[in-house]
Amino acid sequence: VQIRIARGLDGVDWGAVRADLVADAFDNGRTPSALRRSFAASQHVAIAWDDDLVVGTARLLSDGVCNSYLVDVWTRSSHRRRGVATAMLRDLMARVPGQHVALQTDDAQAFYASLGFRRQPEMWSIVVGTWLDNDANRGG
Ligand SMILES: CC(C)(COP(=O)(O)OP(=O)(O)OC[C@H]1O[C@@H](n2cnc3c(N)ncnc32)[C@H](O)[C@@H]1OP(=O)(O)O)[C@@H](O)C(=O)NCCC(=O)NCCS
Repeated sequence: VQIRIARGLDGVDWGAVRADLVADAFDNGRTPSALRRSFAASQHVAIAWDDDLVVGTARLLSDGVCNSYLVDVWTRSSHRRRGVATAMLRDLMARVPGQHVALQTDDAQAFYASLGFRRQPEMWSIVVGTWLDNDANRGG
């Protein structure tokens, strides 16, 4: 099967993506429209398509100069170990030459290592208030 990597969001069924994320236990609580908003507000997106099915997502928050943060890297469980995430990340990385790309992962270390990422302790973080308690995630 030919997987296509799109740099835009045309045609994405966010309800279906949300359902597939839930099925893969990778949902983090966003409503379908909040999912769409978070991708639409990202500097770079990569959506993997198998025909008319979304089989992978990844997005980069970038200042366009020096720093990027990689999030929502996911391959549909039906399509794993076929190079889908590698293709998405290579496509994203080609768009941020010279930039530092950071990410946080609990269990995909081997995958990122395969792309040349190095572990860089230590990251500090905070959730301001309560996770997803904001206007962007209210109202469907
Ligand atoms: C991590 C994830 C995105 C990888 O997607 P994928 O499309 O299967 O990845 P690829 O096929 O491009 O894998 C490329 C290489 O990464 C490594 N890799 C990927 N998944 C791996 C796994 N589960 N265990 C060990 N190595 C793995 C391998 O070296 C693999 O090459 P190979 O298949 O030739 O051995 C996918 O497993 C996923 O969506 N997991 C759940 C969500 C998640 O953990 N996301 C990352 C959190 S930030």
